[in-house]
Amino acid sequence: MIVVPGSSNLLLSLRLAQALEVELAPAEIRKFPDGEKYLRITRPLEGETAVLLQSLAHKPDEYLVELCLLAEAARGAGASKVVAVIPYLAYARQDARFNPGEPISLKVVAELLNSLELDAIVTVDAHLHRLRDLAPFLQAEFIHLSASKSLAEYFIKEYKFSPNELAIVGPDEESEALVAKAASHVKVEHTVFVKKRLSPTEVMVTPKEEEVVKGKVVLIMDDIISTGGTMAEAAKQCLKLGAKAVYACCTHPILVNGALTKIYLAGVKSIFASDSVPSPVSCVSIAPLLAECLRRWTR
Ligand code: R5P
Repeated sequence: MIVVPGSSNLLLSLRLAQALEVELAPAEIRKFPDGEKYLRITRPLEGETAVLLQSLAHKPDEYLVELCLLAEAARGAGASKVVAVIPYLAYARQDARFNPGEPISLKVVAELLNSLELDAIVTVDAHLHRLRDLAPFLQAEFIHLSASKSLAEYFIKEYKFSPNELAIVGPDEESEALVAKAASHVKVEHTVFVKKRLSPTEVMVTPKEEEVVKGKVVLIMDDIISTGGTMAEAAKQCLKLGAKAVYACCTHPILVNGALTKIYLAGVKSIFASDSVPSPVSCVSIAPLLAECLRRWTR
């Protein structure tokens, strides 16, 4: 097996290669003067399983095209199997036609991935709120992992709270599965809020079970922090309900438009995330999770 990174997340690619104890083989990647991407895999991949790692955050369109070029180049270089590890799967939030004239973007991305004839696609906490499962839309084997247990474990170890003084909160009903998995892993109570989106940057959250939060140290967990609006509103709501302290975490720290500042200003003590997307708070590595999955897959 060989890890061939795209340019989106070199640190995670390196960590993954180290966890798998395999070679990291960066491709030469640059732009032509007209802005088109050029890349070249500089070693033969004859008979190898090529693991292409590309997280589609920050420059989703550019990284998606890079992934397509990498997949074709890997086959051309002789790889016997090609696996795309896409920790953050962009376009998953547009998984329905919410307004007339809109595309179902996730379906378009799935069809693009199908054209690459991949053997497997691995992703982490994909935003599958309405579709639930992408497997029926993909020709490659679809492996969906979750960083939620690793995030909860990190919180307990790093901050040394005992489970009975804690509660894990999901900022919306769609986060129920993520939060329930984390909470049962570290044996703490959990609840989710109900979220109403007012605009791309504004949301309103309301509690369902107020008593779960009152007097507790609360960890708010979400799949994505983008503008930070959701996390900030959820934090304010927790403090209003009498939480002793509030911490925030997510799998994919996209963090645009001053998200961290917004969340800290809402009263959150500390923010942490997985390294699915590079950021100043990406301190929980998903490399062991990905490595274990790939080892199982190749067996
Ligand atoms: C939406 O349903 C997601 O789970 C996140 O809550 C959302 O993407 C976060 O976005 P923002 O940080 O912009 O509120």
